[in-house]
Amino acid sequence: MEKQKVIIAELLEQTLATAVSECEHDRMFVLTDTTTRQLCLPRIAAFPFMQGAEVITIGATDQHKTLDSLSHVWTELGRMGATRHSLLINLGGGMVTDLGGFAASTFKRGINYINIPTTLLAMVDASVGGKTGINFGGLKNEIGVFSNASSVILHTPFLETLDGENICSGYAEMLKHGLIGTEQAFAELLTFDLDVIDYFHLSRMVAESVKVKERIVMEDPTEKGIRKALNLGHTIGHAFESLALQRQPVLHGYAVAWGLICELYLSCVKTGFPTDKMRQTVRFINKHYGRMAITCNDYPVLLELMTHDKKNVAGRINFTLLGGIGDIRINQTATNDEICEALDFYREG
Ligand SMILES: NC(=O)c1ccc[n+]([C@@H]2O[C@H](COP(=O)([O-])OP(=O)(O)OC[C@H]3O[C@@H](n4cnc5c(N)ncnc54)[C@H](O)[C@@H]3O)[C@@H](O)[C@H]2O)c1
Ligand SMILES: [Zn+2]
Repeated sequence: MEKQKVIIAELLEQTLATAVSECEHDRMFVLTDTTTRQLCLPRIAAFPFMQGAEVITIGATDQHKTLDSLSHVWTELGRMGATRHSLLINLGGGMVTDLGGFAASTFKRGINYINIPTTLLAMVDASVGGKTGINFGGLKNEIGVFSNASSVILHTPFLETLDGENICSGYAEMLKHGLIGTEQAFAELLTFDLDVIDYFHLSRMVAESVKVKERIVMEDPTEKGIRKALNLGHTIGHAFESLALQRQPVLHGYAVAWGLICELYLSCVKTGFPTDKMRQTVRFINKHYGRMAITCNDYPVLLELMTHDKKNVAGRINFTLLGGIGDIRINQTATNDEICEALDFYREG
């Protein structure tokens, strides 16, 4: 897999012009969803080198990360004369970069693509690292390939139109990067004011955050080892997310934040993570993410969901825990009793 260039762009026009010129192409296509077509496309449509680019639009949010949307993209590319030498620009959140990346990687056995993430979650996480795909058969990200964008361009002014919930959702992944990163990044994240956002400050933190993901993915692109660090908060988080799906769906980052509470608790108990840092993180999460209400009657379902997580090997629930900030312990296990204790802690929190 070719290396992926992640560029922080203050001047979007220049950066995109360079990225486009580095990908030799005959035709250019832009993939948007219905929201980013309205809110984000106008920021690039007027650039001189974008003239003649065709726009393809799919429905917004993860519920459209489907075979139908993918088929629509392939059909439109074909209909408008895309060739093996065409270029696709994915302009949107993680849904668009995941689906667009997969569409590009499979159309005529693969064409070049550029990601321009427009949500916080996509900037610090989804658009970087080469995982592309769609949901299928009721399962998330069931079909896909590892494939890198030629360039990923991060332009934080896109975030100015993003709603508070999606900001919080992406910020949970930034918290995760802080926890597996450095003391300094962690401290900065917990003192940032999410209620009155300083976008200039946020853009610096985004740049730091994405570096954590880039570094880890570079060491282990296909998740044989250290890339599992990025699963912190996700073993229990995914179980919360699936349970919520049966009740009141929640944005991914909220489930991750709740998963972090439980997995930091397990880290304190099992791998010596400092209790004060766990409590500080829990306070921050309480304030901004609230809690999904669960009772002990939900524990069997949550445990069952964790047992079926695709990250497990040989039926054992696999955790990434921490011995401290940046002290990553992959391939940890916990007994059902310990997991229930972590869920008790979550409920009492
Ligand atoms: N590939 C990976 O490594 C990876 C990692 C994490 C998540 N993901 C995937 O990413 C997806 C979630 O990404 P997401 O949270 O960005 O969701 P999303 O792409 O569904 O975007 C959320 C909402 O924000 C809107 N939006 C996008 N940009 C906007 C802007 N600038 N202003 C206002 N509204 C805007 C979208 O139209 C959508 O309605 C999921 O499909 C998930 O599976 C992939
Ligand atoms: Zn995540």
